[in-house]
Amino acid sequence: MAIPKKIGVLIGSVRQPRIGDQVAAFAAATIKSQSSSTDYTLHTIDLLAWDLPMFKGPEVPKAIKDPANYTHERTREWSAAISACDGFIFVPCEYNYGYPASLKNAIDHLCWEWQGKPVMFVAYGGYGGGKSVEQLKGVLGAFDMKFTEDDVLLGYPSFEWAGEKVFAGKDLGLLEEENVWAGHRDAIVKNFDELLGLTRAPVIATK
Ligand SMILES: Cc1cc2nc3c(=O)[nH]c(=O)nc-3n(C[C@H](O)[C@H](O)[C@H](O)COP(=O)(O)O)c2cc1C
Repeated sequence: MAIPKKIGVLIGSVRQPRIGDQVAAFAAATIKSQSSSTDYTLHTIDLLAWDLPMFKGPEVPKAIKDPANYTHERTREWSAAISACDGFIFVPCEYNYGYPASLKNAIDHLCWEWQGKPVMFVAYGGYGGGKSVEQLKGVLGAFDMKFTEDDVLLGYPSFEWAGEKVFAGKDLGLLEEENVWAGHRDAIVKNFDELLGLTRAPVIATK
């Protein structure tokens, strides 16, 4: 029997309050209820819970081939968590036309742990968080990560709606059958099935 692929669902926001955790739960619930794939497990990677310190080295991660050589215990733990994953669902918000600093910090702690692995994006924002995804693709290209063909971009219906619900981190009811982003479920499942396919392709280190 094939070993199930381990997929990390990475919540990029550490804002309090926030909606990133609800978006991640929506993506995970959609996959579990609608994907016909069975050979996977989903693991939430919450940067708020990880509370990583600001990256200050001392190592340059690209020079670290053996995680035992990271000076800080927390980096070794973070390395193990990311190494364990075969692929990722990144759930980024958009801050000032880019992805949040918490996510860049988490990425920069490591290098080879990300190398060549596949990613899909479930982003959210006023216009769906597309600018955030665009930036992330540039950065993750440093590790030759593979992207699914489409991105899932969840836009707010109006600024007023966002002001009332999103900014205050209110319950958006995303686990209910009918919700503001219910129409994106098929896209989430399609990208997830593609993501799983990419995890099965051989990873070739080119650097
Ligand atoms: C510092 C900051 C900058 C923001 N900039 C943008 C932006 O450029 N585009 C956008 O769509 N939303 C922007 N927003 C609104 C976010 O989409 C909204 O706050 C969202 O809830 C953030 O995700 P989170 O709740 O998971 O932290 C910004 C919010 C903050 C706090």
